[in-house]
Amino acid sequence: MSESQSAPKRVTLREIARMKRDGEKLVVVTAYDVLFARVVDASGVDIVLVGDSLGNVVAGLDSTLPVKLDHMIYHGAAVRRGVRRAFLVVDMPFLSYQASIERAILNAGRIMQETSADAVKLEGGSREAVDTVSALIRTGIPVMAHLGFTPQSVRALGMRVQGRERGDADRLTEEAIALEDAGAFAIVLELLPADVAKQITAAVSIPTIGIGAGPHCDGQVLVLPDLLGLNDGFEPKFLKKYANLAGDARAAVEKYADEVRSGAYPDASHSN
Ligand code: KIV
Repeated sequence: MSESQSAPKRVTLREIARMKRDGEKLVVVTAYDVLFARVVDASGVDIVLVGDSLGNVVAGLDSTLPVKLDHMIYHGAAVRRGVRRAFLVVDMPFLSYQASIERAILNAGRIMQETSADAVKLEGGSREAVDTVSALIRTGIPVMAHLGFTPQSVRALGMRVQGRERGDADRLTEEAIALEDAGAFAIVLELLPADVAKQITAAVSIPTIGIGAGPHCDGQVLVLPDLLGLNDGFEPKFLKKYANLAGDARAAVEKYADEVRSGAYPDASHSN
């Protein structure tokens, strides 16, 4: 069997825990479809997240609130077909886990059964969220947690850096510890001051994954179309664009249009 056919060694929960212990940074990126899933998996990232940010970057919505469980399952299953090596996490969307623990178990169970994800992610550090994490872990479903700016609460929080009020750092640290005690295997820290993320990262033995939370987290996550420069006009301070795919794609489609109009494409070499 050639190397390309043989299954690559998969990233596991044990490996993720080891990376935190050994001080190795975790690389996390989102994906929403099979083609980009193949690309990011082949690039050697550690974790692929099917984020409910698909509401923004796939559907063009102004928040993640309208994203439904069926949307996450559809995209999660597509991404699964492209991910062979990385650890695959699928977001639980708004209202799929907040109403009751029983619904959270059934909905997380559907994600695991219908996408073959390795884990789910849910937002928040309230007592209810911690109890839900604990119940999912007891059911055998690994959970990634998410603190700081939690996009499903955007109407209540506003889209702004969290953790700046007196007492916030200690409250968030306590929440992170409670989520670790409940069994979460990692915590996303979104839009937090760097010193707050540093305090949380030092307080827990599971990895913290930052986005807009400075350099002291154990890993980083970015939304794929943002890092590829495909999401024109989205320019938050924390974002670094590693490509200009919007510009490149526009140029390619313009060239295609020119060639169709001029008759240069298709030519004899593209005809049967
Ligand atoms: O939905 C998402 O893509 C996320 C990341 C920004 C962490 O939750």
